[in-house]
Amino acid sequence: IPSTYFPNTLLTWYQRHKRTLPWRDTTDPYLIWLSEVILQQTRVAQGLPYFQRFAEAYPTVQHLAAAPQDEVLRLWQGLGYYSRARNMHHTAKQIVQEYGGVFPNKYEELLKLKGVGSYTAAAIASFAFQEKVAVLDGNVFRVLARVFGLSDDIAAPASRKVFQQLANELIPADAPDTFNQAIMEFGAIQCTPVMPDCLFCPLQQSCFAFTHGLVQELPVKSKA
Ligand code: ADE
Repeated sequence: IPSTYFPNTLLTWYQRHKRTLPWRDTTDPYLIWLSEVILQQTRVAQGLPYFQRFAEAYPTVQHLAAAPQDEVLRLWQGLGYYSRARNMHHTAKQIVQEYGGVFPNKYEELLKLKGVGSYTAAAIASFAFQEKVAVLDGNVFRVLARVFGLSDDIAAPASRKVFQQLANELIPADAPDTFNQAIMEFGAIQCTPVMPDCLFCPLQQSCFAFTHGLVQELPVKSKA
């Protein structure tokens, strides 16, 4: 199978099945950051109204930076993991004060921001700036483990490299943003943890897990 088969199939699937979500209609790094922080520990359906309220209350990083902490936390009420909101507020002030209000536009620079880990940095770098860096989250681990038959323990830090390298090889230079959205969406909708829709999957015949009867066994995850 040529190396373009997986990304091309995924992109075609995505065109047809993607959900319309507000953070997909923007390349504003601030709004993308906001959405990804909310979605880190929160499902899309629950996070959506929070995203809308935040984007309306604080349409720019300057607005967020200027807001009082208690107001930010009040808007976050109900989402939990309040350190996310505190880190975001802290980082908004830092971007205004130290970066002149201009969002860093490189993966390596984004990583230096408080509360921005490799996932969020890759999401912002690819969605806002079309940098060719693959996102890795639970969805991506699952899709790659199944399609390519990777049995590395996804809970083991050493496995990251294996998945990151494969994902970086697969991501197309002309559509890194769409590829990243597509692989996460594919994991969320088609290649789900429980009862994946293998019957109607466009990758069925090229999927290692499906063709070897290992869909329930992959990905391998040691600790809870
Ligand atoms: N979960 C995390 N990031 C997401 C995104 N950009 N779109 C949909 N779901 C997500």
